[in-house]
Amino acid sequence: MNNSEFGFETQAIRTQLERTQFQEHSVPLYLSSSFVFEDAEDMRASFTEEKDRNIYSRFSNPNTSEFVEKICKMEGAEAGYAFATGMAAVFSTFAALLNAGDHIVSAGSVFGSTHALFMTYFPKWNIQTSYFDINEPETIESFIKPNTKILYAESPTNPAVDIIDLELLSVIAKKHNLILVIDNCFATPYIQQPVKWGADLVIHSATKLIDGQGRVLGGVTVGREDLIRQIYLFSRNTGPALSPFNAWILSKSLETLAVRLEKHCENALIVAEFLEKNPNVNSVKYPFLKSHPKYEIAKKQMLLGGNIIAFEIKGGLEAGRAFLDKIQLCSLSANIGDTRTIVTHPASTTHSKLSVDERLAVSITDGLVRISVGLETVKDVIADLEQALS
Ligand SMILES: Cc1ncc(COP(=O)(O)O)c(C=O)c1O
Repeated sequence: MNNSEFGFETQAIRTQLERTQFQEHSVPLYLSSSFVFEDAEDMRASFTEEKDRNIYSRFSNPNTSEFVEKICKMEGAEAGYAFATGMAAVFSTFAALLNAGDHIVSAGSVFGSTHALFMTYFPKWNIQTSYFDINEPETIESFIKPNTKILYAESPTNPAVDIIDLELLSVIAKKHNLILVIDNCFATPYIQQPVKWGADLVIHSATKLIDGQGRVLGGVTVGREDLIRQIYLFSRNTGPALSPFNAWILSKSLETLAVRLEKHCENALIVAEFLEKNPNVNSVKYPFLKSHPKYEIAKKQMLLGGNIIAFEIKGGLEAGRAFLDKIQLCSLSANIGDTRTIVTHPASTTHSKLSVDERLAVSITDGLVRISVGLETVKDVIADLEQALS
């Protein structure tokens, strides 16, 4: 079925591979490394791409194609390619589009491994990155140079839940002829579609809310067809492809994305409101709380507030560690976007190698705690947080 008039949930459920002769209702798993050809001419025409068909699962696979097609419909994007992880998507997107001597302008608050790519690995190939403060978008243009090619940001950010105006980024990108790339992992296409605001490419770690159950790793980049073509050719040769099994899982997960997100966000708002009233909490950052500094922008570009909350515990580093030690029901884990609520303390874990100043530059204070609110009964999550905060 291919009706663009269908609603989000219908597209997520009814975008499906053609049935085989077995007339299966649920899509089967195509665990096959390669595909066969009728004859020499069929093989030749397939390799020259005169025929659009599967050749080898590093290039494409039916399960992967179904997953990508769904994400494209959800994001309103022309084309896409699926990766083994979110980081494979981030790396391959940049590596495919940039040449030695090119320059990236990015928000400083980006996921830790993306920061490592920008600061440790890309400079090896003479690709430099300048960071702007996500809370000072008026400074962005001052970082743009003649060799700047990509403007990059996450919104909301990991882990501080900062927000940036996607429409404003798009205006700047168009004015300076830059490719606007947005990591939409914290929002998912149900909550926010950056293409609608003018993004050229959208990246997801599908490992998070798209899987939603903490099972498999995956990533995807969708957007302008001409750019995806370059990313596809790069990836076809370098091999970061998503496995058919993970694609099958992720495509099934998309069928329930909307209902899961409704509940995740409902729970998260209740937890955020509870935290705002707790005497041991200094401040809470959640996009749909009026106290979020970018509340109006969040309301403009997001359908719901997401499932991630950042809050500042009173007492700094030690209080953050003590809080984690007292947690009983929620999990201490590095993932986010699971059915299970997960709490982390970035200053003593994921970002402990950064100096205090480096952490502050990306809005990570010593007492910052990140919660990925799950789908448990919300009063049980609150009871656990309350006893751990007391
Ligand atoms: C915003 C963001 N982008 C990218 C990634 C990388 O995704 P993956 O862990 O699937 O490689 C993450 C992982 O936490 C993330 O939070």
